[in-house]
Formats: sequence, C-alpha cells, structure tokens
Amino acid sequence: MFSRRRSIRKYMGKKVEDVKIKNILFAGMCAPSAGGNRPWIFHLVKNTEKLDMLSKAHPYASMVKSAPVCIVVSYDTQKIRYKDWFVQDLSACTENILLAIENEGLGGVWLGCYPRMERVEGIRRVLDIKERYIPFSMIPFGYKAESKEEYEKFDKEVVHYVE
Ligand SMILES: Cc1cc2nc3c(=O)[nH]c(=O)nc-3n(C[C@H](O)[C@H](O)[C@H](O)COP(=O)(O)O)c2cc1C
Repeated sequence: MFSRRRSIRKYMGKKVEDVKIKNILFAGMCAPSAGGNRPWIFHLVKNTEKLDMLSKAHPYASMVKSAPVCIVVSYDTQKIRYKDWFVQDLSACTENILLAIENEGLGGVWLGCYPRMERVEGIRRVLDIKERYIPFSMIPFGYKAESKEEYEKFDKEVVHYVE
C-alpha cells in the first residue's frame, strides 16, 4: 500500500461512498500525536461551489475543483498543549489520510497550506473557519481518473547501517 500511494490529481465524477469517507477520517484520527494531544479538526467539503472557491484559494490546487470530496485538515490553536510539535502531529494525520484513501481504492493529493498564511487565510474565508483553527493541508480525493506507475522508492544510498 505504501509504494502504491501516488499523488492523484484527476478524479472521476463518481460519488465517494460515505462509509469510505468515514474510514478515511477515522484513519486521520488514528495518527500518533505528541503527548496524545490530537490537535486536529476536519472540514469535509462536497459542495461544488465551495470546491471551486477552494481551488482558487491556493496557487497549486486547481484539481480541487473537479474532486468530489476535499478534506481540510486544520489544527486547533486552543487545544495545543505541545505547541512545538503541531506540524509533526498534523503531518502524521495527513499521511494517514492519504494511505487510507489508497487503501479504499481511491486517489488523492496532499496540498500544503500552513505555513503559507495567504493560503491559510484564503481557505478560512471560503469555509468561514474560526480564527482558532489553522488550515494545515487540503486533501482532494475521489475515484482515480489517472493511473500512475509504482516506482522503485527504496534508495540504498540514503540508509546508513550503523554497527
Ligand atoms: C508538504 C507537501 C505539500 C504539497 N503541496 C502540493 C501542492 O500544493 N500541489 C500539488 O499538486 N501537490 C502537492 N504535494 C504533493 C507532491 O508534489 C508529491 O507528493 C510529490 O511530487 C511526490 O509524488 P508522489 O506523491 O506521487 O509520490 C505536496 C506534498 C507535500 C508533502
């Protein structure tokens, strides 16, 4: 599953079943977080007008417009007990979501939002997200309308075996 995951930016119009969406959100909530703080919240977007607006709130997000679903992963500034670690927490959450998308037979892509504050503010405006929440990543996904080859990712040059 890990090597099959690729960034998929083209989607079929087919509806994504609610049970799959729930499994994908659940995977995000299963991510490890510093001190078990779990500082994430999710906005689930299916509304075509909002998807269109989200695609314009980020310079490299044109595929959001044609996705049937997009999850915006944000962090809750009032929930952060371990502030130094929120980027790692939200990254683990985002990657769990991407792997769950692949596992459900779907495809998606990680779109970085935080720390580009113009993206954060644009997304906040579109979804009317409160100040306390900071959009960290957007993940548009759906049934794949492009196929990408698995390629050899194991790079022995980056491993130092310590004896
Ligand atoms: C932090 C982060 C930000 C990214 N932002 C974007 C983005 O704004 N637009 C996009 O199309 N892909 C984005 N990507 C996806 C990468 O381009 C992609 O993972 C990379 O090219 C490797 O391809 P693969 O995911 O198919 O292995 C982002 C990935 C990460 C981890």
